[in-house]
Amino acid sequence: MNVSIIGTGYVGLSTGVGFAIKGNNVICMDVDSKKVDEINSGIAPIYEPGLEDALKDVLSKGRLRATTDIKEAVHNTEISFISVGTPSKEDGSIDLKFIKSVAKDIGKALKDKEKYHVIVVKSTVVPGTTENIVLPLIEEHSGKKAGKDFGIAMNPEFLREGKALEDFLNPDRIVIGGIDKDSCNVVRDLYKNFNAPIMVTNPRTAEMIKYTNNAFLATKISFANEIGNICKQLKIDTYEVFKGVSMDHRISPHFFNAGVGFGGSCFPKDVKALVAKAKEVGREAKILKDVIKVNESQRRIIVEMLENRLGSVKGKRIAVLGLAFKPDSDDIRESPAIDIIGMLKNKHAIVCAYDPKAMENMKRVHGDIEYAKSAKEALKDSDACLILTDWEEFKKLSKDDFELMRGKVIIEGRRVLSKEKGIEFEGICW
Ligand code: UDX
Ligand code: UDX
Repeated sequence: MNVSIIGTGYVGLSTGVGFAIKGNNVICMDVDSKKVDEINSGIAPIYEPGLEDALKDVLSKGRLRATTDIKEAVHNTEISFISVGTPSKEDGSIDLKFIKSVAKDIGKALKDKEKYHVIVVKSTVVPGTTENIVLPLIEEHSGKKAGKDFGIAMNPEFLREGKALEDFLNPDRIVIGGIDKDSCNVVRDLYKNFNAPIMVTNPRTAEMIKYTNNAFLATKISFANEIGNICKQLKIDTYEVFKGVSMDHRISPHFFNAGVGFGGSCFPKDVKALVAKAKEVGREAKILKDVIKVNESQRRIIVEMLENRLGSVKGKRIAVLGLAFKPDSDDIRESPAIDIIGMLKNKHAIVCAYDPKAMENMKRVHGDIEYAKSAKEALKDSDACLILTDWEEFKKLSKDDFELMRGKVIIEGRRVLSKEKGIEFEGICW
């Protein structure tokens, strides 16, 4: 099929390249002409393992091209996916400005298109958005009728950063929430050569599946951190506890890794948006509010542990290893490192940070701290070290590497160091 992707960020580009790999013809559209030029020249604007090679391959086969012209994208394809950003507003509620702007643009592009076209919302939007906001805007700006001239569906993404292409090509399931059979059938046809169960439902249910999925995963993490904080006081290793707990066939072992908490462009914003939506419909999401509170407190706990060990961090040199919100990513959106470095700066510590991929992005937030070219360089002469991202290379750090430090305080936020190496460290929850 001929597919257009409107908004080629972490989700849109992985989706576009994925559909091209599956044999479709893809047009990626973005308002950012720099991104469009990079994509057309085989450069992935974002870091995702394997994405750039896959992009080069589908470009060479003529299966993908990028443009800033939404009309070109809509007129030359049968189906368009909306995957533009859905950031949080100050109060945590979802900001739909990009969704609304793209819905209008698609409507205008549809105005003089005769053939039936399906618009699919892939961006994470609160329940009701597809039918009550996107659909009317497209009708208004196209002068056409949903269900007659065009179809509408919602098809949530379940992509993890660092594994986006892998997760796109090997989904646990495909959820299609369409307004009618025709809309659902076109989307189902596009996914026919995927090896995954397909669930067909309505748009608001599909929207809620996505939020519930992320909210539950975030709840698992905060639950693990709450138990971890208790275990820490009881001198129990929470990882041992969850090893035993997850042997219960009703409880999967995944997402119980206690540590400095979750970051990223999804969990924090999606949980806050669901809390705000609940309030809007007169319900208080008590558990989800506490999921956010527990997550935020983990950042304070690791700084408090540092202060307890050093007495004060004022004037002390702190090596911060890991800035990305997770390994295999350059993304620092909502990364715990942002708040933790902010707290250390406010306490007049001297911060020297290192991350294999995310330093350039962090410089845009904390440009006034030191950055090292390697973990060893960051450790040299530091009074203490915090590990905030579980990069593979940090697991290989040796006792000698840590002996480059002036001090002895090592606090672990991500469980990458093991006692076997004789390195004396303390874990945030173990
Ligand atoms: C986004 C949402 O944040 C996420 O909730 C949803 O699940 C998928 O889409 P992400 O890909 O990380 O995730 O967004 P981002 O990296 O910000 O990319 C959005 C892209 O859309 C950017 O390249 C931006 O230039 C583009 N865009 C934005 C448009 O093309 N048109 C617009 O009007 C606005
Ligand atoms: C998540 C969901 O996994 C994905 O399905 C959804 O589409 C988008 O949001 P992502 O945010 O890319 O994906 O990363 P993920 O691997 O889920 O990790 C999110 C955060 O939780 C990271 O900061 C990670 O360090 C943290 N995490 C994850 C924990 O602290 N403990 C865990 O056990 C797992």
